[in-house]
This record gives sequence, structure tokens and C-alpha cells, in this order.
Amino acid sequence: MLKGKTVVLGITGGIAAYKAAEIASKLTQAGARVEVVMTDAAMKFITPLTLRNITGRPVVTDMFEINSEWSVEHIALSEAADAVLIAPATANTIAKFALGIADNMLTSVVLATKAPVIIACAMNDNMYANPATQENIEKLRDRGFKIIEPAYGRLASGKQGKGRLTDLETIIRKVDEVLGGKGDLTGRRIVVTAGVTQEPLDPVRHLGNRSSGKMGFAIAEAARDRGADVTLIAAPVSLADPAGMTVVHVRTAAQMKAAVDKAVKQADALIMAAAVADYQPKTIAKGKIKKESKDSLTLELVRTPDILGEVKGNFIKVGFAAESEDPVGNAKKKLASKKLDMIVANDITAPGSGFDVDTNKVTIIEKGGKAEELPLLSKREVAEKILDRVAKRMGR
Ligand code: C5P
Repeated sequence: MLKGKTVVLGITGGIAAYKAAEIASKLTQAGARVEVVMTDAAMKFITPLTLRNITGRPVVTDMFEINSEWSVEHIALSEAADAVLIAPATANTIAKFALGIADNMLTSVVLATKAPVIIACAMNDNMYANPATQENIEKLRDRGFKIIEPAYGRLASGKQGKGRLTDLETIIRKVDEVLGGKGDLTGRRIVVTAGVTQEPLDPVRHLGNRSSGKMGFAIAEAARDRGADVTLIAAPVSLADPAGMTVVHVRTAAQMKAAVDKAVKQADALIMAAAVADYQPKTIAKGKIKKESKDSLTLELVRTPDILGEVKGNFIKVGFAAESEDPVGNAKKKLASKKLDMIVANDITAPGSGFDVDTNKVTIIEKGGKAEELPLLSKREVAEKILDRVAKRMGR
């Protein structure tokens, strides 16, 4: 969808400004006419000459530059835009957008344009987490701006945090999408399971585990954003239902199995990220189990159904293997025994990986392929990597 379209690329002054050159290059190569607007601070990080050579177009840096083709009527640039992309967008420029300030060419274009505006945030993690920035971003989201959240990773300060400009493919895909492009999973039906099953012991107690459900939710959201028709089968978690998909709430492994068996009848892929209990109490006490004078209590457990191992049908099957020992070896065994197309192994003992964190360190193993170890990534980025492979298997 980028061919022949005018994309105004606004670059603001963060260290990620150097990545804007690559973005400009990708957009130009995809056939877009890229009009770059840089703030003064952006020019401290990257020169207009670089952008000019990449785009083949003059770069706008000064609202009052007499020779600029856009200078007299800067409104013309806002009207020429089919889409405006700000990458990277700093906290300062985001705050100006939220207030409607127009004190340079970029903020003026954004205030004047009727084209969709995409904001790819990149900043120090504390600046991003600051309530002022969060409120500004929410305000912009409410006004219809498309927000691309920063990713987790190494920041300019040297520490790890949420603030990095997200991967460039995601940014380009978003521009394509706002221009009417269809995501690579458009028309595909994807069932995702997430959360932690609860196996009741009595009316008030259950067996569960520490999984947060974040990985499965990130996959469901990423699949939705790539155009898929998503059914999210969610065991209890403390996350809000994501918009734009069918969410089926279940509690136990048995309920999840019933929901999965029903949903996969129409599916092109099943991605099982849920942390499903392997055992359930043999009987569920009718009343609350009483504390007795004995010092110990023995529970008898029986196996839950292996949902992924037993599911039938001709669709892509992706499993997860959360392991504390030999994740890749164990995952390979599961890939074979459950007849999967792909398995995502994560070492839950690795720092920043596994339960209740926003990042994950995984190895993806595809049927007939070799194990691919990914670096520590945000769960959203891991989701995109999984979906890249799912889309490829679907011939997209
Ligand atoms: O067998 P194991 O629990 O190690 O396999 C993990 C994978 O199998 C995950 O994708 C998980 O969602 C799925 N699973 C399942 N049914 C179970 C247990 C796990 O589908 N009872």
C-alpha cells in the first residue's frame, strides 16, 4: 500500500534517531514518497544530508526557511501527507502533540494534518513510565493517533528497560496498515490460549501456577494487529480482555479443552501459550475442606487431558515448553510427541524470562528445522517472531 503514497516522516531528538534512516530507506524502497521533517534536536543525532540522500527529497528542518518548497505554506505538507509517522517520538514532542503546541515544522504539520498519525515512542524508560507521558499518550490514543509502544531492551543509559524504538518491521507494517494495507494474517483464523487453568479442590481453593498470561495475550494482540480473526481462550488472569477479538473465558483444563476443540473447527492455527495444569484433584470436595487435627493432608491427583496433544484437525499447531532443565531438549521431545509444527521453548530460570515479566528469552524450534535461539525480547516481539513463522507456514 506504500507505493505512490506520501509519508511524512517526523524525526525527533532521541538516540534512536539514527534508526530513522533505515525507516526512510524501507519506506522509499517500498515506493513511498518520503518527506522528512526533523526537529532541531534530531539534527544533533543524524544529519539531514543522510535523509536527503536516502529519500531523494529535500529535508525540512526550519519552518522559516525561505527556500524550502513547503516553507511559506507549511500547511501544504500536512495536506500532502497520506500518513504521518513520527519515529522516534520523544516524550517532549509527544507532550507538545498532546497540548496542541505548534512551535516547529513537525508539531505544526501534526497539528494541521487530517492524515493518520503514527507515533513510535522511544525514550528513557523512566520518562516513558512517568504519569505525564502516560497521560499524554492516552490522550493521543483517544484522539485517534496510532501509538506504537516502545520495546524492552538495552537503553542508551546502558540499563535494560521499556523505552527502545520497537523493531522497524512492526513500524513499517503499521504505516502500511493505516494506508489500507492488509496484514499478512488477514483472513486467517487463529486460536490462542493464554492464562493459568485453575483446578478446584473445593469451593474456595484450587491448584494453579505462577504464569501471568502475558505471553498468550501478546500473541493474540499481535495476530489481531496483523489482520487475523482471533479467538482468545483465556484461563483466569489479571489482564483486561483485549479489544477486537473473541475472548472465551474458561477455568479448568477440561473447560479449556472443550473450548479449544470447538474453536479449532474453523481455525488455521492453534497457538497454545496457556499454562495448563498437568494434574487435577481426583475429586472436588462439596464443602470447604476442613483443617483437621492431623499434621498432613494427602490429595489424590489425576492427569488432566493433554489438550494440544489430543486436538484433531488440519491446522498449524504451536506449543510452548516452559522448562527449568534442558529447555531445548525437552521441547524437541514435545514437538515430536504432540505432533506440533512449532514449539517455543523458554528457560524459566533465565533472568528476565518466564513468569510475570514483560520479556522472554526463547528458542523456537520448527518441525524439520533447527533450533533458533532469540535474544531477550519483549513478549510482543517474541509474539511477532512466532507469527512471522506461522505466516510463512501459511504461505504468506
Ligand atoms: O506437556 P507440557 O505441559 O509440557 O506441554 C506444554 C504445551 O502443551 C503448552 O503449549 C501447553 O499449553 C500445552 N498443554 C496442553 N494440555 C495440558 C498441558 C499442557 O495442551 N494438559
